[in-house]
Amino acid sequence: MEIPRDSPIYIAGHRGLVGSAIWRKLQQLGFTHLLGRTRAELNLLNAAAVREFYDREKPVYVFVAAAKVGGILANSQQPAAFLYENLLIQNNLIHGAYEHGVKKLLFLGSSCIYPKLAPQPLKEDYMLSGPLELTNESYAIAKIAGIKLCAALRRQYGCDFISAMPTNMYGANDNYDLQTSHVLPALIRKFHQAKAASAPTVTCWGSGTPLREFLHSDDLAEACFFLMENYSAEQFINVGYGSDISIRNLAALIQKVIGYQGEIIWDHSKPDGTPRKLLDSSRIFELGWRPKIDLEKGIRLAYDDFRDHCG
Ligand SMILES: NC(=O)c1ccc[n+]([C@@H]2O[C@H](COP(=O)([O-])OP(=O)(O)OC[C@H]3O[C@@H](n4cnc5c(N)ncnc54)[C@H](OP(=O)(O)O)[C@@H]3O)[C@@H](O)[C@H]2O)c1
Repeated sequence: MEIPRDSPIYIAGHRGLVGSAIWRKLQQLGFTHLLGRTRAELNLLNAAAVREFYDREKPVYVFVAAAKVGGILANSQQPAAFLYENLLIQNNLIHGAYEHGVKKLLFLGSSCIYPKLAPQPLKEDYMLSGPLELTNESYAIAKIAGIKLCAALRRQYGCDFISAMPTNMYGANDNYDLQTSHVLPALIRKFHQAKAASAPTVTCWGSGTPLREFLHSDDLAEACFFLMENYSAEQFINVGYGSDISIRNLAALIQKVIGYQGEIIWDHSKPDGTPRKLLDSSRIFELGWRPKIDLEKGIRLAYDDFRDHCG
């Protein structure tokens, strides 16, 4: 189904890492009626305000890229806020979309919905097959509820609401705060600062052996648009890069891109986290979508963005 270029499309969270990439992608494709609201303009915790927005703007397509997002520290310190706020935001957006007759909606989940000890690579069928990782359980429970709400609205009312589960993302508008950021943007900041200060060493957390998968946000944006046009089913779908890399090799790649000449020291007293986290993305690959930005090119793009905004 080709989406008409003048359709009103609401991107909730349009200034975040994922939402801003979807916004840019739709602009490039020539969409002329994009709708975005900052938190100050529309607080998504407020059901009445969301209803009023839907009434007034009448979006036909909705991308749900707004959420309370954070690293391990924030998740473990604020479990109630992560559960409550994410449930409110997604309920207001998803149920509101049903009430206002939105034609199609895409909800974004996260790979933390999978059980802590699920086999790798993670297949869609593994959701709810075992206990979750405790540190982000609240966030994961909210995301599972969002997936289930989309599926239930489809079953009960025939709503064309779908869900996608992206792997670890990076790209423009990422969070580079060393206290709260994910591993890839944190390493970009560390190596950049070490180079600027001509520091002889950079210390990285853990052993460097865990394997992680990374997808550039521009690739995810393409996947979201691809799914909006080509996918309609109750089953949510994984969106990954298709292969993983050790943190040690990731650090070496970032070191090379930034041109830092010093030595990397691994602080083994810091936790490694789970040994491997790789999505099985064969379903979306079989439908015809593939990522285009390899990790080295993606890190170059992310580093350019970092220097423009934070360097
Ligand atoms: N980043 C990743 O590695 C990753 C991986 C897998 C899945 N995802 C999923 O992708 C989605 C987007 O993540 P992201 O990384 O793009 O997060 P992000 O950069 O933190 O963006 C989230 C957006 O939601 C907005 N928001 C949060 N609470 C709001 C509220 N009460 N009212 C209005 N707006 C609100 C934020 O606005 P403010 O800027 O005003 O706070 C921000 O624009 C999430 O569902 C996440 O689970 C992300």
